Amino acid sequence: MKELRCPICHSAFQENLQGLVCANRHQFDRSKEGYFNLLPVQNKNSLTPGDTKEQLKARREFLQAGFFNPLHSKILSLIDASSKSVLDLGCGEGYFTRALAAHLPYAEIYGVDIAKAGMAMAARSAKSLPNITHLVASNFDLPLQDQSMDVILRVLAPSKDSELQRVLKPDGKLLIVIPGEQHLIELRKKIYPEIRPLQPRPEVENFMLKDEYNVSFKLEINDLNPLQSLLDMTPFAWKLNQQKKDLILSSQLNDSADFSIGVYEKISI
Ligand SMILES: C[S@@+](CC[C@H](N)C(=O)[O-])C[C@H]1O[C@@H](n2cnc3c(N)ncnc32)[C@H](O)[C@@H]1O
Ligand SMILES: [Zn+2]
Repeated sequence: MKELRCPICHSAFQENLQGLVCANRHQFDRSKEGYFNLLPVQNKNSLTPGDTKEQLKARREFLQAGFFNPLHSKILSLIDASSKSVLDLGCGEGYFTRALAAHLPYAEIYGVDIAKAGMAMAARSAKSLPNITHLVASNFDLPLQDQSMDVILRVLAPSKDSELQRVLKPDGKLLIVIPGEQHLIELRKKIYPEIRPLQPRPEVENFMLKDEYNVSFKLEINDLNPLQSLLDMTPFAWKLNQQKKDLILSSQLNDSADFSIGVYEKISI
């Protein structure tokens, strides 16, 4: 917990019976599921920011079924076994956070997401992994101490460069996972009349891209349930009308998953 800081006054926290308290007596109670809500109301841009419960549930079902296992394995292989503190930014319902915690049982693992429903789901299913702390917070204003993290992982989520720079240790590693050009290409062809290029890999201010790994694999989905979950968790499928959705759901999907993992190091400034 020494890695945490108060989102209001930035001082360190002590644990008490209810949860966390800082030197200026700002108190944040532990929720019944076990997460801490450290998102100040003024940083909420809507009543329920982030992904919805339905999107989070769909994501959980799809990921738990193992469809993205090769990505999960590659990520773990890039994380040093000696890492003591790891942050999963925009961690959703916590699939990669749990994998990190099981892989590094002696490290402190932090899962941050702005969606309260995600943190509730994640905390509920991590009871056997006491090394995870789940925080409702924004990636743009992290309730974490300066230079407190050995590794930051960001899978398909946004963040702010200056916060990455602030929170990562000088010799820390930043992993940013983005979709590659072939990601769900067959599904995109079914949805769009014309395939637009995806966003290129982001430059991260004051970081240097050291390595880039492509992780691509076949995605064959023959059952209705995972196909429905994929549509529910995929932003570009949300705008589909029911008729088009039904058409996609009526046949199996032979597609590709394609991800790019960028490994960044800090440039000393
Ligand atoms: C595509 S999901 C990826 C979830 C997770 N990384 C995974 O791969 O399963 C993006 C996540 O980013 C979260 N998110 C969006 N904006 C955020 C912000 N400003 N701060 C923290 N999380 C955010 C959403 O709530 C959502 O859970
Ligand atoms: Zn405080």
